[in-house]
Amino acid sequence: MKLWGGRFTKPTNELVDEYGSSIGYDYKLAKFDIQGSIAHVNMLAECEIIDSEDKDQIVKGLKEVAAQIESGEAELTVANEDIHMNIEKLLIDQIGPVGGKLHTGRSRNDQVALDMRLYLREAVVTLTDLLLNTQQALLKQAKENIDTILPGYTHLQRAQPVLFAHHLMAYVFMFQRDLERLTDSYKRINRSPLGAGALAGTSFAIDRESVSERLGFDGVTENSLDSVSDRDFVVEFLSDASLIIMHLSRLSEELVQYSSAEFNFIELDDAFCTGSSMMPQKKNPDIPELVRGKTGRVFGHLTGMLTTLKGLPLAYNKDMQEDKEGMFDTVETLIGALKLFAPMIETMTVHQDVMYEAVAKDYSNATDLADYLVGKDIPFRESHAIVGQVVLYGIEHDKYLMDFTLDEFQQFSESITDDIYHALSPSAVVNARDVEGGTAKVRVEEQFMKASEMFNTS
Ligand code: ARG
Repeated sequence: MKLWGGRFTKPTNELVDEYGSSIGYDYKLAKFDIQGSIAHVNMLAECEIIDSEDKDQIVKGLKEVAAQIESGEAELTVANEDIHMNIEKLLIDQIGPVGGKLHTGRSRNDQVALDMRLYLREAVVTLTDLLLNTQQALLKQAKENIDTILPGYTHLQRAQPVLFAHHLMAYVFMFQRDLERLTDSYKRINRSPLGAGALAGTSFAIDRESVSERLGFDGVTENSLDSVSDRDFVVEFLSDASLIIMHLSRLSEELVQYSSAEFNFIELDDAFCTGSSMMPQKKNPDIPELVRGKTGRVFGHLTGMLTTLKGLPLAYNKDMQEDKEGMFDTVETLIGALKLFAPMIETMTVHQDVMYEAVAKDYSNATDLADYLVGKDIPFRESHAIVGQVVLYGIEHDKYLMDFTLDEFQQFSESITDDIYHALSPSAVVNARDVEGGTAKVRVEEQFMKASEMFNTS
């Protein structure tokens, strides 16, 4: 018989059990469910709602059930629908009818909201640590490339030279905002909904604060209807996760591009690549490709959760059982990706000579010629037009700016003198961007400092 079978005259249709059951995935909440139950039952005894011998038996039984689930010995069944009822059933099998006292003053509705929060709280901490590792790997690679110059791109056309360190640091700051968002969301996750009951609270004189403290929450939720019916903390997490994987996906795209023969800027370590079953020469960047690909499912889970919630009347509705799989999958997808990213970034080889060549054999110093003319009191718009002509001449005569003779330069402007060759050299061009946040070496070193400070405070 079902735990709620009292008012029913027939057994549940098997298809209903199968369709309505969540045990196939919410078993992942087992550890949190038991943690919550132990806190709840301790509070029940403290408030003298159950006596302390019963409490001791229940706590012992719950620990036993936890061990059985952990070892795979416990049988979790579709007939018992979800993790909450499976655990309660296992407890009663273990210690007898006294186990039935556990659910006093509680509903699965506040229980599942609690479990979700406990799960997410742990996930947020894990993800924050992994993001930090990724940032540290990027910083390390950046420090090793403080003198490496490559083209910076706009429209994927060579635009202006930048330090590779500067490029990598861009991701460090993206991941920093991601990390801060997660840390901020923790405040909203970390509130205890237990005591909200099914929707209206409970008639037992429970102590919500006590449960909250036992579970390490920062406090209790304010409204019972809200507590059992909203999953905005899940949506918020999914949206934070979407931004993380969006950033990872952009980095992935660059790793894929830069490791192609066409760019040949980097090479990923063999340990992070795969081969082809047919083409013996292939070395494929599967991991960044897969991370880029998995972005779709994470964005999908965000849209899915928002859509599930959008038309729901207060309070709990069974629709809300759909909150779990997307959340689990998102957490697992991100953990998988981030675990790989740090070592993959750290072990990649940077082809500094190829990067340099792409800067030297190019017109990406054209802005600097224009800026040079501005220094000779020519208005920027005019100097831009002059340099446009210079570049056109260069293309037609198969010459980069550094290959021009002084005479050739002077055909375009009398103001150009010998010092132009220094001004147009890659390192001068980079170091000229000496503005806070710019790509000049000293400014990138400032970013290293800022990043180290961030890491110490986060
Ligand atoms: N498995 C359910 C869920 O995940 C637990 C809550 C069920 N509550 C209910 N009143 N049927 O949402």
